[in-house]
Amino acid sequence: MKVVAIISQKGGVGKTTIAVHLAVAAVQAGYTVALVDLDPQATAAQWSDWRGGENPAVVAAPHARLTPTLKEAAESGVDLVIIDSPPAADSAAVAAAKAADLVIIPTRASAFDLHAIRTTADLVKVASKPGFALLNAVPPRATALIEEVATVIYSLGLSLVPLCLVERAAFRHAVLNGQTASEFDSDSKAATEVQNLYKWMCGQLHMSERPPVAQSKKAHA
Ligand SMILES: Nc1ncnc2c1ncn2[C@@H]1O[C@H](COP(=O)(O)OP(=O)(O)OP(=O)(O)O)[C@@H](O)[C@H]1O
Ligand SMILES: [Mg+2]
Repeated sequence: MKVVAIISQKGGVGKTTIAVHLAVAAVQAGYTVALVDLDPQATAAQWSDWRGGENPAVVAAPHARLTPTLKEAAESGVDLVIIDSPPAADSAAVAAAKAADLVIIPTRASAFDLHAIRTTADLVKVASKPGFALLNAVPPRATALIEEVATVIYSLGLSLVPLCLVERAAFRHAVLNGQTASEFDSDSKAATEVQNLYKWMCGQLHMSERPPVAQSKKAHA
């Protein structure tokens, strides 16, 4: 079982949006996925209620319960866990980073947001986990801005996901309906961006983009 933590002390940078999109992308590929919501605001759990159904399973848990929650997930055959976390660099973020094989730190491309990820970057280093900043909700055609921001991110000792998510209405509309961008509009640019992010994540986790056929059948049984 692979575990991906989405953390950032900064609020509203897209943690939950990215968590639900990656979880659903893996479900669509045929994996058994659990989304663990460590945020007391329970936004991902709320999304799951709007969505209805159990695919992906969303489990709201306090961070003190993270280890047993992951153990249960592994025992019940979950292939991939995505952890959504509260906007703080506190014990929940530490627990998520420690449990993860890969840490994604969403950030907007503004000076305030970049400054705010410094503590989160330090936390990932202390946990000795591979941490990647992900630029989210960037303005379209912002190539020069992305280059400037990349320099700041590297100076924090973080790597940068080699693609970004653009500011797109499809992300907002989809989530409000308990969906993801590909379910809302499969031809949308947002859906393509998420698919590329999913493929990148699989590469980092050394996980194939689709499960072996037998496992895929089990997931749909
Ligand atoms: N790429 C995007 N394009 C457009 N809107 C986006 C994008 N990413 C996130 N948003 C919107 O930004 C807002 C904040 O996103 P989200 O709730 O995912 O952030 P968060 O980091 O989980 O917030 P919190 O810290 O409160 O948990 C939401 O309204 C969401 O729809
Ligand atoms: Mg959130």
